[in-house]
Amino acid sequence: MSEGSRGGNPSRARCPGGSYQELLRSDTYRAPSALASESERDLGTRPVPASRYTSPEYFELERERLWPRVWQVACREEEIPAAGDYVVYDIVGRSVLVVRGEDGGIRAFHNSCLHRGRRLATEPGNGRAFRCGFHGWTWNLDGSIRSIPCRWDFAHLRDEHLTLPAVRTGTWGGFVFINMDPGAMPLEEYLEVLPAHFGRWRLEDCYKAAHVAKEIRCNWKVAMEAFMESYHVVATHPQILPVFADASAQYDVYGDHVNRNLAAFGSPSPHLGESAPGDADVVTGMLSLMGRGRARPGDAGNQGARSVLGAMNRRSFARAFGGDYDGVTDAETLDAIVYNVFPNFSPWGGFAPNIVYRWRPVALAVDSCLMEVMILKRCRADRSRPAPVPMRLLGPDEPWSTAEELPVLGAVIDQDMSNLPHVQEGLLASRSGDVHLGAYQEARIRHFHCTLEKYLGS
Ligand code: FES
Ligand SMILES: [Fe+2]
Repeated sequence: MSEGSRGGNPSRARCPGGSYQELLRSDTYRAPSALASESERDLGTRPVPASRYTSPEYFELERERLWPRVWQVACREEEIPAAGDYVVYDIVGRSVLVVRGEDGGIRAFHNSCLHRGRRLATEPGNGRAFRCGFHGWTWNLDGSIRSIPCRWDFAHLRDEHLTLPAVRTGTWGGFVFINMDPGAMPLEEYLEVLPAHFGRWRLEDCYKAAHVAKEIRCNWKVAMEAFMESYHVVATHPQILPVFADASAQYDVYGDHVNRNLAAFGSPSPHLGESAPGDADVVTGMLSLMGRGRARPGDAGNQGARSVLGAMNRRSFARAFGGDYDGVTDAETLDAIVYNVFPNFSPWGGFAPNIVYRWRPVALAVDSCLMEVMILKRCRADRSRPAPVPMRLLGPDEPWSTAEELPVLGAVIDQDMSNLPHVQEGLLASRSGDVHLGAYQEARIRHFHCTLEKYLGS
């Protein structure tokens, strides 16, 4: 496998009709090299066992061998801007305290008191020290012990042995990552092509403008994998077929930890065949999808729909966020440019307000997970950085569409939700015990499972 190595002979069958790369070549500007490349790898076609999503034993393997060893996003840097700001990141029974130190550095510690184990913090906050609520043992922000009430009663313990156990931290794109494994590879290596590909889209220059979460009654992988392919669009989101080239989407896999999906908006689905709308209707359809009203007569002119929409987006982004979008190609303003970082983090590339997903189990439940959706918006250079919004947790009966901060997206996610609990139930009811994946369109899910096997050893 090598990036850009695929020539005219794809190793797997592709949808007849235009490819994503052909669409890119018709766009207004030349696409950046990160988009104008492909990275395929033959990972086989074996079925995935359904038990990976349902078995408490498999969940336990993940708890022991996966989560303590991988880089995970804990928060945004802007959520802990000042000395003493901290957040709590919980994952399968472990808890990590992520804090901004007096020196401006970010550190993380296992969130467990070294006296009798109480969680030191349960909510995000700010302080000059961590004081345990049970008996008052107190630690400095750098993890060193500060004070112990009735110190004379603990003469058998030395201060140097009472430093909070550290968790590794790293940052990329304005995100703070943690890794509980002292021997794990550095974050920069783990992220593979991600920093190079996002060099132009600079998520570090964005702020968190929306953050909505909801508990879903399915295994965390069931939820995540529903967002790793466009294959389900024809059955689950048919209303977007006139403006979304689902079956032409491109799927790329890199090393063990990164893969992506490139799918074009502003171009109709190959499923529509002869009944595909013309450019003017595609423009109108996209504007209505984006909640931007009607197209003006002649908007499509002699140009293709993507060129028209790209020009509109460049103008509207410049108005909303400042900056110069000249030379930004249509794809970077329109398309689903969706990366996944193993195991559970998915940032969108491009210049449109960037969607970010994160999935993780709820407590120790094999069949329940938290899905979070964030929207990052670009900070204007001529204004101060807006404060990030806190996470809003939707209740069990609150659809995503009630979250006004997720325009359009909420209703689409609700369609995804209509499948997920039933996928979980169906996997449990499976008699074949096999899950079959498309050789190309579901290559990212296979890639994920190949890496999962490496971590779990099975
Ligand atoms: S459990 Fe924390 S001070 Fe006692
Ligand atoms: Fe979907």
